[in-house]
Amino acid sequence: MKIVNTVNEVREQVKAWRKEGLTVGLVPTMGYLHEGHQSLIDRSVSENDRTVVSVFVNPMQFGPGEDLESYPRDMDRDAGICEKAGADLIFHPEPSEMYHDGFSTFVDMDTLTGGLCGKTRPIHFRGVCTVVSKLFHIVTPDRAYFGQKDAQQLAVIRHMAEDLSFGIEIVGCPIVREEDGLAKSSRNTYLNKEERKAALILSQSLQEGKKLLDAGERDAKKVRDAIVEKLRLEALAKIDYVEIVDWKNLEPVGQIDRQVLVAMAVYIGKTRLIDNILYEPE
Ligand code: PAF
Repeated sequence: MKIVNTVNEVREQVKAWRKEGLTVGLVPTMGYLHEGHQSLIDRSVSENDRTVVSVFVNPMQFGPGEDLESYPRDMDRDAGICEKAGADLIFHPEPSEMYHDGFSTFVDMDTLTGGLCGKTRPIHFRGVCTVVSKLFHIVTPDRAYFGQKDAQQLAVIRHMAEDLSFGIEIVGCPIVREEDGLAKSSRNTYLNKEERKAALILSQSLQEGKKLLDAGERDAKKVRDAIVEKLRLEALAKIDYVEIVDWKNLEPVGQIDRQVLVAMAVYIGKTRLIDNILYEPE
């Protein structure tokens, strides 16, 4: 497995693979890899001849006062995980390699990005779309892999790939959870012992909602209210949002009569965590 830092090195390697007729999968990450990322790498390795993992904490997707500086980084550990999982190349650029002086071209989206996380993080998806577009142009993969935990991101990237005719298959992969239900996230490392325990309220409240849905409740407000009520039982939890939206257009629904995304962002202490479930009525 090679680790490279420049766009040209990636291009040369991919060109050589293409000459041999090999397919390429891309797993974009911000590093500090966990089993969730590993599942994306595993899937890419199983579906492509070669797998590229990008490790880049993208400054453009962090707003003022967010955790850009403190975002966990450990390249040696990440390299070990990628190598073990069978990745072939890590692209680990410096910010200056991705954004040269005078960089001023952005990829933005008029739909899908205004609600859910986009409300609290208004510039986030512009940063995500811009960096992912650049990665798509640099790596030119056949397939790219994203986790369902960032459900809005997955929907946005699918839409962008379609709108901009990237010709890349966007593969969404299931959420990987700790044994007790907490969705794996690099940001879980911010939680102290008490907060880690409190963070369970996210998956537990989603389960509460799912119980109602399984029992046949189709009124989105009632399901949402039950989830909010459960979240409020945890003193350390502060709700950013709980929403039930159409999985196709991310617009809020009144009746659950199609596939929906039940999504939440909740602060546990200072750490903002997200989680969700997809639900499709029979
Ligand atoms: O999901 C992430 O880790 C990031 O948003 C991504 C897709 C790597 C873009 O920086």
